Amino acid sequence: MRTPLIVGNWKMYKTVDEAVHYVKDLCNLVKNINDVNVVIAPTFIALHATAKAVRNNKVKIAAQDLYWKAEGAFTGEISGALIHACGTQYVIIGHSERRAMFAETDTHVRKKVTAALTHSLTPIVCIGETLDQRESGKTFDILDHQIATNLADIKTEQLAQLVIAYEPVWAIGTGKNATPMQAAEAHSHIRSHLASTFGKEAAVQCHIIYGGSVKPKNIQELIAQPDVDGALVGGASLEVQAFFEIISRSRKATV
Ligand code: 13P
Repeated sequence: MRTPLIVGNWKMYKTVDEAVHYVKDLCNLVKNINDVNVVIAPTFIALHATAKAVRNNKVKIAAQDLYWKAEGAFTGEISGALIHACGTQYVIIGHSERRAMFAETDTHVRKKVTAALTHSLTPIVCIGETLDQRESGKTFDILDHQIATNLADIKTEQLAQLVIAYEPVWAIGTGKNATPMQAAEAHSHIRSHLASTFGKEAAVQCHIIYGGSVKPKNIQELIAQPDVDGALVGGASLEVQAFFEIISRSRKATV
């Protein structure tokens, strides 16, 4: 049984003080929710302070990216080793905004996934098609290509340690989420691909979460799909009450 995982990706929002204030509020709100795992991805500069603020609570912290080298002369970059040392447990890798705006390639993603695992971070690997690709019937080809290249160095026993985030690019920040049917179809395709590469036993252990305009009003229908194991939430995670609503409505048993 895969415990639902809800991740808030704050992108380039919130000061360190705002971030700490929010995670403290969130820890209080979720203290009695034991059947959903909760992660917040603040900016790099807030990682240390938020990780300290949530210590011994159920809320965990994610970085939004990492560089694959452990240390060295790489001005402006942050390594998995540094991220892990400040109390962070997860890292988002290959978000479509990084792929589109910062020239991140499948090869970069592959190296970052390995670096994350090396430094005991759980990678949240983002994949997904653009609107053009969907409309020209290429969705499954794109997902297959991204899985094959991004996870090329992963061993079967490592699959359970990573999270795949299916984020159709056309659904991000647009208010237009994938329908529950579209999400179900993509997630089931992703799991079948994982099963054919790593075996069924490993594939059923991997969390596949959905991202793209997730809101309190649509989470229940999305999470009700058998292969949707949680959500990667952007805009709606910026306000603690809305994010808490999403978490509360993600409990599979209550759907
Ligand atoms: P929105 O929830 O704002 O569409 O963002 C999704 C996303 O990019 C999460 O990583």
